Amino acid sequence: MTETVRTRVAIIGAGPAGLLLSHLLAADGIESVIIDQRSREEIEKTIRAGILEQGTVDVLTQTGASERVLIDGHRHDGIELRFQGEGHRIDFPGLVGRSVWLYPQHEVLKDLIATRLAAGQDIRFGVTAERVEDAGSTQPRVIITDAAGAAGEIVADVVVGADGSRSVARAAVTGSSTGGYFREYPFAWFGILCEAPPSSDELIYSNSPEGFALISQRSATVQRMYFQCDPEADPEAFSEAELWEKLQARVPGTTLKEGPIFQRDVLRFRSFVAHELRRGRVALVGDAAHTVPPTGAKGMNLAVADVVLLSRAIDALLQRHDEGPLDRYAEVASRRIWKAQHFSWWMTSMLHVAPGASDFDRRRQVGELRSVVESEAGRTYLAEAYTGWPLETAL
Ligand code: PHB
Repeated sequence: MTETVRTRVAIIGAGPAGLLLSHLLAADGIESVIIDQRSREEIEKTIRAGILEQGTVDVLTQTGASERVLIDGHRHDGIELRFQGEGHRIDFPGLVGRSVWLYPQHEVLKDLIATRLAAGQDIRFGVTAERVEDAGSTQPRVIITDAAGAAGEIVADVVVGADGSRSVARAAVTGSSTGGYFREYPFAWFGILCEAPPSSDELIYSNSPEGFALISQRSATVQRMYFQCDPEADPEAFSEAELWEKLQARVPGTTLKEGPIFQRDVLRFRSFVAHELRRGRVALVGDAAHTVPPTGAKGMNLAVADVVLLSRAIDALLQRHDEGPLDRYAEVASRRIWKAQHFSWWMTSMLHVAPGASDFDRRRQVGELRSVVESEAGRTYLAEAYTGWPLETAL
């Protein structure tokens, strides 16, 4: 005997994309059910990049999803690009009249989960989506296994795959779980969290002969830093002293404030866009649709942009019986996705040292960095992309 749940929109994944989608749909009077195979505790402690574009902050605050971003988040009016031992500031408000906000993704998640549960949202933790069926019909279904191991299904008018880079929904849209355009990189990031005061007021993106480093922050007492490493690096292979030595060598000209390292991880890089973003009544958003390397801090912002568009398309379909916007979702979302893919790839290739890079490559790279920081047009392109292009809502 399998249990059948009926809803208007079945959302697979209680990450930022799935939660925000349920919030925007609820504001339009559209009910949804969210499932996630993880527990609430696991979701809330996933540590991810902490930069929110101005447009993302506007969506979160104007829709009542998170007011705390303005209280606990920190506005950053610029970043520093560092190379050949010198820092070059990119002044966001001066160049494009916008800023970004440093706010860890797990804090966004805590806010969204609390807001949705308080509003009575049906979120089912510990429920696994096995597959999505009948994408081409008007009643697509998610086949599930619940927390107790019992089989069931969710039948909906629309199914949304917000289930991350290992998406189960993707196969129903593209015909295979891997189908997409992708690119791998020959390096990864070694990330640390440490107890120390900030080493700099703003984020430092540093290119050095030893490789790339990013000096980011979490709070007045906790800092997040990364350095370029081999994708096969073992997070436990280095002593704390070795980690500080590696970080320090990659930000020449800056003295890092050191402190106890309490977390370390290796983040692999990948650029990916699914071949299709929608089939019939099944659509993909966020990491299920695309992944970007973290250098441009675009991941979560791109998910928010997808969700804003898709919520408009679902509203048109379910409230006005207009299928046009859902038909155009993939095409319109793709424009921003590929701009963000380009920006993330460009920041990555401009700042990292590829294994086997020649002297020519190294000198050309410094020429590229100089072309950006010494030109107002160059700095403006970087500032526009980093702070985020205007959100599209028209489909
Ligand atoms: C972070 O703080 O974790 C972070 C910030 C900026 C990035 C990537 C990660 O580009």
